[in-house]
Amino acid sequence: MTLIAQITDLHIRPSGKKAYGVVDTEAMLRAAVASIAAQPRQPDLVMASGDLTDCGLVEEYELLRDILKPLAMPVYLIPGNHDRRENMRLVFGGDGYLPMNGEFLHYTIEGHPLRIIALDTVVPGKGHGEMDAPRLAWLKARLDEQPDRPTMIFMHHPPFPTGLQHMDSINCRNAPAMAEILRGRTNIERVACGHHHRAIQIRWAGTVGSVSPSVAHQVVLDLLPHDDATFNMEPPGYHLHLWQPDAGLITHTAFIGHFAGPYPFLLDPDYPAFKDKDAAPVSHASAAATARKSR
Ligand SMILES: [Fe+2]
Ligand SMILES: [Fe+2]
Repeated sequence: MTLIAQITDLHIRPSGKKAYGVVDTEAMLRAAVASIAAQPRQPDLVMASGDLTDCGLVEEYELLRDILKPLAMPVYLIPGNHDRRENMRLVFGGDGYLPMNGEFLHYTIEGHPLRIIALDTVVPGKGHGEMDAPRLAWLKARLDEQPDRPTMIFMHHPPFPTGLQHMDSINCRNAPAMAEILRGRTNIERVACGHHHRAIQIRWAGTVGSVSPSVAHQVVLDLLPHDDATFNMEPPGYHLHLWQPDAGLITHTAFIGHFAGPYPFLLDPDYPAFKDKDAAPVSHASAAATARKSR
């Protein structure tokens, strides 16, 4: 079993500055970190899938490092269009998993039942991403190394369409060539992305594509074909990816915030399965016991 928390699009600014003059991304990431730390089952690792900072400044990465400190499990980073590779290397290079030579910040995470491939889709100075020839060759070589192991791919820019036209115009280019490499393989559990600031799923290249909501602001849900890009402050969230050998990859969206509950399932006597102990998530008797215990 492997449990991964995917946080994405953190857009950290220097302390005291808000992203776009509106979003307190530091406070929002601190809330995300607290939410992950409070999960009853602790993730084996956290993957932050790009747009870690808003401008790629050293100061922003240093603040990011400080905010992530309370997490007891390893945290892995990949860059997005708002990041700068050289400054990521400067602040996080010592963690040991980021390649310190070569252009791209690609790597694999071994040692878990689920293998993870982290891709760098960044085109410096551009909003869109790309899987160009060297990156495709690197991906193919990694996949060919262990063709039978369940594998999950993380990348910032989705290589698939989402119906959000203004975001799709800056997604990952050369995607058909990447799909060609994935298609026909049976071990690719998922291509998990960020960038679009919404929870999205799609069947793509013989596997499943997903986008995690941002831990900060969300892109407005507008599926009309136009180029107006706006964001709002819908509830932020992150994805919990649970890999089980008998089930494959199961993904939950966790919302970040303080919500009423939890409440016991106190069944009404008129409930059709009231006497069926197997049918109820929690029987009347055990719910009452739970209520007694919590008093
Ligand atoms: Fe973003
Ligand atoms: Fe992005």
